[in-house]
Amino acid sequence: MTIEKTYSKDFHELKENITKILDFNSFQYNDSYLARRFKSRLNHFKIDTYHEYWGLLKEDLEEQQKLRKELTVNVTEFFRDHTTFNTLQNEVIPEVINQNNDNIRIWSAGSSDGREAYSIAMLFIEKMGEQQAKRKLKIIGTDIDKDCLEYARKGTYSGKSGYGQMDVGDQLGYFKSYKKYVDINDGSYTFKPAVREIVNFEFHDLISGRKKSNFDIIFCRNVVIYFNRELKNTLYMDFYNALKPGGKLILGKSETLLGDAMQQFKKYKPVERIYLK
Ligand SMILES: C[S@@+](CC[C@H](N)C(=O)[O-])C[C@H]1O[C@@H](n2cnc3c(N)ncnc32)[C@H](O)[C@@H]1O
Repeated sequence: MTIEKTYSKDFHELKENITKILDFNSFQYNDSYLARRFKSRLNHFKIDTYHEYWGLLKEDLEEQQKLRKELTVNVTEFFRDHTTFNTLQNEVIPEVINQNNDNIRIWSAGSSDGREAYSIAMLFIEKMGEQQAKRKLKIIGTDIDKDCLEYARKGTYSGKSGYGQMDVGDQLGYFKSYKKYVDINDGSYTFKPAVREIVNFEFHDLISGRKKSNFDIIFCRNVVIYFNRELKNTLYMDFYNALKPGGKLILGKSETLLGDAMQQFKKYKPVERIYLK
């Protein structure tokens, strides 16, 4: 089977149409990424053209849901990228706490099923203690995938399923004290109320959503990889404006700042992709 290689009129029509019917802005992604994702669905149906696929997609609600999932890949892990979490635990978190900050605000932007937000919460609580954390710390996780948000709010992760590649227990095992923060029951791990009280999840589109403000740290890791350059630039400047002075932006290990944001942010731990306002 040959798949269309160039970005034909049909490709652009499909791109426009899915933006209308999926409540998903396909223009934030670059064409080669979209083509790869479409290809996987075309292969699934053993069809060759975007036009045929659109004929099928517009009638099939289940396929619309599947394509949406395919486009918003939500692979994640607890303590993803251990060296970043080392730096966070040993340098960034103590610094934020020592600033005598009574209103510590953390944003996990593109939080998927919540593992990043809960990982951050455990490290903060470990350093601050539960009572202080309850009074002073707020972590919000935001995403456009409603299934992921619902999963995250439940705060229960199963050892046998989920989005991560490794078993949940192995992912959590990076942090030796994790058992203080979860109830373990028959292979599933549920965060205790002391952690869940601190972490909230809400729907928010990084491109079109309301602008946020007043954060000490913003994590936006492995989210914008497929955004086009212009949107990345706008988003990074939105993050700059959403940080308190001295606030930190943490990107994914394979991501770098670009455009205006590169001039504005200072390098803090560039190897770990941590930047300073
Ligand atoms: C690969 S996951 C990354 C999760 C986590 N940050 C990590 O590094 O493990 C990317 C997440 O970004 C979300 N996402 C994609 N586009 C988004 C947008 N425009 N606004 C908010 N979230 C978005 C996806 O739904 C997905 O859950």
